Amino acid sequence: MKMKQIMILVLLIALMKMDYKLKNWRLTMNKKGLIIIILAIISFALLGYYFISNIMNRMFINDPNINVSELQKLPIPALLEDENPDENISDFYLNVQQGKTYFFKELATTTLGYNSNFLGPVIKVKRGQLVNMHVQNDLAVSTSVHWHGLEVPGEQDGGPHQKILAGSTWNPSFMIDQPASTLWFHPHVMGTTATQVYYGLAGLLIIEDENSLALNLPNEYGVNDFPLIIQDRSFKSDGSFLYNDTMMDGVVGDYIIVNGAITPYLDVNQVKMRFRIVNGANASNFNLKLSNNNSFFQIASDGGLLESPIEMTRLFISPGERAEIIIDFSKYQSNDKVVLLSGGQVVMTFNIKDKVQDLSELPTTLSIIERLDVNQATALKTIRLDGMGHMVTINGKQFDMDRIDDNVNQYDTQIWEISAPRQMMMGGEGHPFHIHGTQFQILSRNGREPNANEMGWKDTVFVNSGETVRIIVQFKHKGIFMYHCHILEHEEAGMMGQLIVN
Ligand code: C2O
Ligand code: CU
Ligand code: CU
Repeated sequence: MKMKQIMILVLLIALMKMDYKLKNWRLTMNKKGLIIIILAIISFALLGYYFISNIMNRMFINDPNINVSELQKLPIPALLEDENPDENISDFYLNVQQGKTYFFKELATTTLGYNSNFLGPVIKVKRGQLVNMHVQNDLAVSTSVHWHGLEVPGEQDGGPHQKILAGSTWNPSFMIDQPASTLWFHPHVMGTTATQVYYGLAGLLIIEDENSLALNLPNEYGVNDFPLIIQDRSFKSDGSFLYNDTMMDGVVGDYIIVNGAITPYLDVNQVKMRFRIVNGANASNFNLKLSNNNSFFQIASDGGLLESPIEMTRLFISPGERAEIIIDFSKYQSNDKVVLLSGGQVVMTFNIKDKVQDLSELPTTLSIIERLDVNQATALKTIRLDGMGHMVTINGKQFDMDRIDDNVNQYDTQIWEISAPRQMMMGGEGHPFHIHGTQFQILSRNGREPNANEMGWKDTVFVNSGETVRIIVQFKHKGIFMYHCHILEHEEAGMMGQLIVN
């Protein structure tokens, strides 16, 4: 483990040095240059050895344990029971626990979950409700539960400062005061966020409000309203997870899983279906489309409903982001099959069933989104997302729990200009940039207005390599909040900062 990291470090330094040389057109070979190149070759060879030894006990797509004709049905996470009879107050109980999951027939994988073996339940709340959460950590190690996208004070945010020790509990209370949206929750402890998510800790938090309930959109959970938590995982041949962090830009899996099953199927009637898509992967982007290239409608982004449905045939979604879409299956015939793909990879299959009455609607107006006013902004902040692999920084710095990077006054509005400079030798991939405790709006991408589906509330924005994205953000709650790249391996490697709202 240590050895691997050192090798990657040596390799990266060597590459950067070479990069520098190329940039400066000084290709004259001196002693130092030679040593660097030799070191690079040795590192390449050693890394190659590691990759091969990894492959030796890795499970592959054509493994006999996977029988494609026996795909699993899409698991539907349970709705978490509200233990408080009072309509305005909710009490929810979460148990962080270890369990076993059967991704493959007769091969158990050790996994983590909230109240279950893998992933967690769906918590449904209403705007205006007071929510009391009761989190019990039954793991042998510390964890935390971060409410990704939720606008609450820093103390309730569940970031690295709200560690829940093994065997102990955490009982945050907060008011739900933001529009209807699909949020999610996951661990956020220093050093183990990426692995705990990989092993299964993630769940959904759905907010409804008066507007969303009045709209008559498909909203019958598990009937015409489904969560799709899309992730990817690799396995060893004994069925256990393979967390392979030699990857240059985060851990990417061999298999796509949805709600905890490998490329599952779902039987659907010929009606409109709503899917609340979460990219819960550690590092992978998904570029979703239907196998027949038919269109669907995006109705919500991270922080809530869009102003109107956006018809599209492709949906790009990076780690941490959410999108709600409506697929209208009334255009299909019984026994049709439609596959949801990401690039060329299968994500899941829809088996079209009966023609039934559909009482839901897809209205032309979904919500009214007031644009934050750029003239109200009191600061312009620049965020530079730099580096790759384990050498990633924000504005040249790596995360330090004891350092506050920025002070903000409560209710201040700021413009953040986030850029991801191209990494010359490797090109570099983009970074999904996320801010805790608030929802923001995207002003521009490389100076141009963003696509229509990015005009709603966001808490995570993909900043591609070579791109500059401007956002406008208001900080309504006091406390300490993280901002970071949602490639979890980048976050762990220090591509994170923290601000305090006073
Ligand atoms: Cu979902 Cu700090 O992140
Ligand atoms: Cu978050
Ligand atoms: Cu990143």
